[in-house]
Amino acid sequence: MKFQAVRQLYALCAIGAALTCSCSSGNAESDLSIVPVPESATLHSGNFTITQGTTIGYADDTLLPAAQYLSSLLSPATGLDITVQKGDGSITLAIDSIAGPEGAYTLKATPKNISIIGNSYGGVIAGIESMRQMLPAEIESRTPVDSIDWTIPAVDISDAPRFAWRGIMLDVSRHFYTKQEVMNLLEVMALYKMNRFHWHLTDDQGWRVEIKKYPLLTGKGAWRKFNSQDRDCIYRARTQKNPDFELPVEKLRIVDGDTLYGGYYTQADIREIVDFATVRGIEVIPEIDMPGHMLAAVSNYNGVACFDETGWGKSFSSPVCPGKDSAMEFCRNVYDELIDLFPGRYIHIGGDEVEKKNWKKCPDCQKRMRDNNLSTEEELQSWFIHRMEAVINAKGKQMIGWDEIIEGGLSPTATVMWWRSWSADAPARATALGNDVILTPNAQFYLDYAEDQNSIPNIYNFDTTCGLPDSLQSHILGVQGNVWCEWIPSEARMQYMAIPRLLAIAELGWSNPSKKDITEFRNRLAAQFHRLNIMGINYHIPSLEGIHTLNAFTDQGTVTVTCPDPTAHIRYTTDGTEPTLQSPLYTGTPTVTESTDFTFRTFRPDGKPGDIIHTRFVKDTFTPATELSNATPGLSAAWHEFTGNKCALITEAPLNGTYVTEGVDIPAEAKGNIGLVITGYITVPNDGIYTFDLLSDDGSILNIDGMTILDNDGPHAPVEITGQKALAKGAHPIEVRYFDQNGGTLKLRVFGPDGSELPAAQIYSHL
Ligand code: ACM
Ligand code: ZN
Repeated sequence: MKFQAVRQLYALCAIGAALTCSCSSGNAESDLSIVPVPESATLHSGNFTITQGTTIGYADDTLLPAAQYLSSLLSPATGLDITVQKGDGSITLAIDSIAGPEGAYTLKATPKNISIIGNSYGGVIAGIESMRQMLPAEIESRTPVDSIDWTIPAVDISDAPRFAWRGIMLDVSRHFYTKQEVMNLLEVMALYKMNRFHWHLTDDQGWRVEIKKYPLLTGKGAWRKFNSQDRDCIYRARTQKNPDFELPVEKLRIVDGDTLYGGYYTQADIREIVDFATVRGIEVIPEIDMPGHMLAAVSNYNGVACFDETGWGKSFSSPVCPGKDSAMEFCRNVYDELIDLFPGRYIHIGGDEVEKKNWKKCPDCQKRMRDNNLSTEEELQSWFIHRMEAVINAKGKQMIGWDEIIEGGLSPTATVMWWRSWSADAPARATALGNDVILTPNAQFYLDYAEDQNSIPNIYNFDTTCGLPDSLQSHILGVQGNVWCEWIPSEARMQYMAIPRLLAIAELGWSNPSKKDITEFRNRLAAQFHRLNIMGINYHIPSLEGIHTLNAFTDQGTVTVTCPDPTAHIRYTTDGTEPTLQSPLYTGTPTVTESTDFTFRTFRPDGKPGDIIHTRFVKDTFTPATELSNATPGLSAAWHEFTGNKCALITEAPLNGTYVTEGVDIPAEAKGNIGLVITGYITVPNDGIYTFDLLSDDGSILNIDGMTILDNDGPHAPVEITGQKALAKGAHPIEVRYFDQNGGTLKLRVFGPDGSELPAAQIYSHL
């Protein structure tokens, strides 16, 4: 499937599954509620208080920007004019030889003063962010707040990052974000000690950086008539009544009667943003994606593509022509001008998703291949990337490319950004060759995919070792979340998609694994929402917990719902309408004695609505069991050669074979076009309400006793839903239908009335 289509499917998915949250702590690192959790913290008695007369000292001139930054964080809310001075202050910043990797710091707060010592500029910034998070959240207010004691506890913190690379990528081509909007994102990144901003500056849908030698790149290439994704966004804004899907009017302009969407950064804008990031310890890595994804360039300049006619091929746009010297010169010139704007160490060349059909037909490309003994178009791509790497290296920089750069021959000095989860051996292949790798596999780290209850645990518990031997671990530079913006037209939507997942990536990238604990992380995350609200940051209110898509009760049901964001208000309706700010507030635990449909919606303190959750509370009776004789363990799975996208149609497809599975599993034999009908019996030990948790990629349906308990149908990425049924002790017919075309996932877990999971080996049988 075309990757863009996959991204759209992921972006559309939303699910409901239950999680539990327990609030416990017991050590200073978690009590301080700092994200990412620090390596060690020891609390002492007393507090340091910011008052009139508090000063910020800096030990050497390189720390003046850090001192000014800290003053800018502290002054507005306190209403104090916190001055900076060379030498000691009440808060003193210094660089010294703190043990640990680059970015390590110590923070010592006593009732009299605070000392922040980093082993680099970035270490000092990390210490500042820890101090910032220990202050009351109101410190984020940009106007004075009265009646707050601006204190932090007396504490000794010693902290160091796990990885050097803790990144966020923003795609400003598909939709454009202004200078201020980019800075707002950098501000959140800094707060959570993220230190790499990967700026996807160009793509087929818009060129966003001024290149003086080629003014048409922005003059024409930064503006477009509405494309299908714009129209999707406008449609969603209307049908979902969500203004965050509107295209902001300031990004529209009328030219010759046409409404055009776009925008770009002048070189002065770029320098300003880079300076803003640098002050906050963030390196900016520009990406001009080549040789594919260059439509804005190839359609505005001659001699850059293989042929005069440019546009879309089967999946991707017409690429640059590596066979033409004019195209190579164009690419070289663009990078020559671009690189001078970025003081950091890395430049990203892109290199992903290149449609090579034109190269096969192009006489210049074929000649280039002959002249250089290249036997495949993949090798031609490598030849191009190696040439561009030489341009980048000549400017003293290192090149990064998406993992496609491994194909056709990887240069020994390139850094690989692994994004294709389905190309799972990319880290092993690259590190075995001695190359560095940055982890950004799409299944977990693509923040434009819809967020569900599994998203944060899937990031937080991601195995960053990638199963590599210890000797290769140093080649893993770190982790990054990518915000692709085809369906993200506004800053509010961008923040909603990125946050709070960004915080999980930050902690994965920073904290020592021995300090990480998902339950404690959730508690510390809950404490961040108040701060984010004051900062005016939009975020995804985490999904409600405690309810299922289908909830069963026999006499009386209790509606217990909690929200992991303690600042959110939960409102609901029982008449099927969308909850509004006027709908009843969920307080206490309402009870129901008749079947009732509940629709819940969370609201931010400022009234901004979150997701809508539809749930059913069904008055049920214990369905009688079926008498079984001669049943054998396991379930019967029929595999049909299925290419459709609805479970109901599976049995119409030809049967490939029938297998016995232990539980609800995909038989090992079933590959490619899979339509499964799994049948048999589930035997439960007692009368009770049983809970079913169905995870599938793509669609699935669970029927028990001929009744649909869970409907997870349709094509989609992994989606988990839960539901309940009252069952009498004994055997009950079960049927699960499932389909996928290309290696998906299917998992059904069953929980008894006491919450314990029933092992598949004990409950399933078939005739
Ligand atoms: C990518 O998502 N095409 C890197
Ligand atoms: Zn060509």
